[in-house]
Amino acid sequence: MSRRLTFSVFRHNPRDPASLPHQETYSLDEQPGMTLFIALSQIRDGQDPSLNFDFVCRAGVCGSCAMVINGRPGLACRTQTKDLPSGISLFPLPSFELIGDLSVNTGKWMRAMSERIETWAHLAEAPDIDRLEARMEPAMAEAIYELDRCIECGCCVAACGTARMRDDFLGAVGMNKIARFRLDPRDTRSDKDYYEVIGDDTGVFGCMSLLGCHDVCPKDLPLQTQIAYLRRQMVKQGFR
Ligand code: SF4
Ligand code: F3S
Ligand code: FES
Repeated sequence: MSRRLTFSVFRHNPRDPASLPHQETYSLDEQPGMTLFIALSQIRDGQDPSLNFDFVCRAGVCGSCAMVINGRPGLACRTQTKDLPSGISLFPLPSFELIGDLSVNTGKWMRAMSERIETWAHLAEAPDIDRLEARMEPAMAEAIYELDRCIECGCCVAACGTARMRDDFLGAVGMNKIARFRLDPRDTRSDKDYYEVIGDDTGVFGCMSLLGCHDVCPKDLPLQTQIAYLRRQMVKQGFR
């Protein structure tokens, strides 16, 4: 027999002065294979067309559907209701600008972070075509690809106590990106250059090793290892 699910959903429109943050309750019959994406779509279609939430790919690729699901950041499109109790609470990710209800502006945060740490390969001033086209060892390409799997969903930032305390913290997502470019042989930046962007309390030395980021990352990125490695390298090379 299917369960009756109860959703307690955060509602607030920050652009409407009359809107007060509150929880609204919706009920649905659970169906086989139901994800939170399906459940929220049914609620919006059948019960409340004003409900805001974001989805694009529905396949765990775009990162837009992240929200706090029963207290834990996760992707709504990859979360099946059968893995949750019948009472489900949904909140928007903290640390990001609220657009409305479950929708937050992770793009604005990610863009600011990317511009600050310059998440692109810094090539030599007169790029040497042979170097650019040089064959990359498969092991190196795989190591870079492993870190490139980040979908910028924001779950790691939402789960991080440091990010909740300071707006300028780069988060595990930012440090993962630095780790990715440090590996890339085409990037001409030195460790000193990297140190200048992440070697303080807004970067690797602000991280308190709380590891919420590592626990919630839906792509299982090795965030704990990368942050610890960057920190050790900074200390080893005398940058701190
Ligand atoms: Fe999401 Fe993981 Fe990337 Fe953080 S590191 S933004 S949790 S995919
Ligand atoms: Fe935050 Fe992850 Fe460090 S949760 S404190 S970035 S280990
Ligand atoms: Fe794209 Fe969920 S809708 S990751």
